[in-house]
Amino acid sequence: MKKRILNLVVASAIAFCGVVSTVQAADKVKIGFLVKQPEEPWFQTEWRFADKAAKDNGFEVLKIAAPDGERTLAALDSLAANGAKGFVICTPDPRLGPSIVAKAKALNLKMVAVDDRFVGSDGKFMEDVPYLGMDAHAVGQQQGKLLMEEAKKRGWNLAETGAIINTFEELDTAHQRTSGSVESLIAAGFPKDNIFNAPNRTTDIPGSFDASNIMLTQHPDKKNWLVIGMNDNAVLGGIRATEGAGFKAANVIGIGINGTDVVAELEKKEVTGLYGSLLLSPNVHGYKTTMMVYDWVTKGVEPAKFTPISDATLIMRENFKQKLTEMGMM
Ligand code: GLA
Repeated sequence: MKKRILNLVVASAIAFCGVVSTVQAADKVKIGFLVKQPEEPWFQTEWRFADKAAKDNGFEVLKIAAPDGERTLAALDSLAANGAKGFVICTPDPRLGPSIVAKAKALNLKMVAVDDRFVGSDGKFMEDVPYLGMDAHAVGQQQGKLLMEEAKKRGWNLAETGAIINTFEELDTAHQRTSGSVESLIAAGFPKDNIFNAPNRTTDIPGSFDASNIMLTQHPDKKNWLVIGMNDNAVLGGIRATEGAGFKAANVIGIGINGTDVVAELEKKEVTGLYGSLLLSPNVHGYKTTMMVYDWVTKGVEPAKFTPISDATLIMRENFKQKLTEMGMM
C-alpha cells in the first residue's frame, strides 16, 4: 500500500513538472528560421547559431525546410498557427518575395531575409524588407584573385589553362560572385578566350558537375583548369568533373565560397583540386538575423533595411580546423 501511494506521489510530481514545462514552452517567444537548402552545411550552421541566440535569450527557434514556394507559404501558415511572432528566411527563389511579404503581413509576422535578397515584380530588390547578406561581388573578386595567384605560383602557362565558371544567373548573389571572380581573372591577365561559362541547372554538386563536365568535353585541348562557382558546392561539382575527365589535382585549382561545405573534402587523405575556400560568417548570419527578429517582436526595435557582413578568410588544408574552431564551427 505504502509503495502504491509513493508511486502515486511520484507520478503526480512528474505530471506536474510536465504541466509546468509545457506552460513555460507555450509562453516562450517563437521565431521561425526557414532555409531553402537544409542539406547544405552552410544553412545547418546558420540554424545552429539561431538556436544559440534562442538559448542565450530564452526563446525558441522553429527550424523549417523551405525548398519551394508551396512549402514556404504553407510553413508561414503553420508558424502563425503555432504562435510564432516572426521569422528569418533564405527563400528558395527571390522572386517569391512579393508573395512572402503579402502572406507575412496577413499573418502579422515580422520578417528578416538572409543570404538571398527578395526581388519584386519589377525585377528590383525589395529594399523595404530588412536583409542581411555578404558583399558578394567583393568575395567573388577575392576568389578570382587568389586563383590567379596560385596559378602563377604553379607556373602554369595560361594559354593552356581554362577557367570553368559555374554560373547561376537567376540568383543575384551568385551573379555578383562569379562576375566578380571573372573580373579579377581578366585584371590579372587571364586570357578572355579561355573563360567558359557553365550555366548550372541546380545549385548543388550534381548541378555543377554536369555543367562543368560539358565544358571539359568541349575544350579537350586545355591542360590545366581553374574552377569557379558561387559557393563550395558549385566548385566541388566542378572538381569532381575534372577528376572524372582524368585531371590530376596538380592541374586543377578550385576555391570555394562558404567554407562550411568543404570540411569533408579538406579532411580527405589525398589532396584534391579543391585548394581552399573563402570562409564567411554563417554564425553571424544565423545569430544576428534571429536577434533582429527577436528584438523587433519583443522590444519593437525595427532592424536596419540592409546589414552587410563582409569578412572572408581563406581556409586551406593547413588551417581549416584551426579557423573553424576559432569561429565555433568545427
Ligand atoms: C546563397 C548560397 C549559400 C551561401 C549563401 C551566403 O544562399 O546558396 O550557399 O553561399 O548564399 O549568403
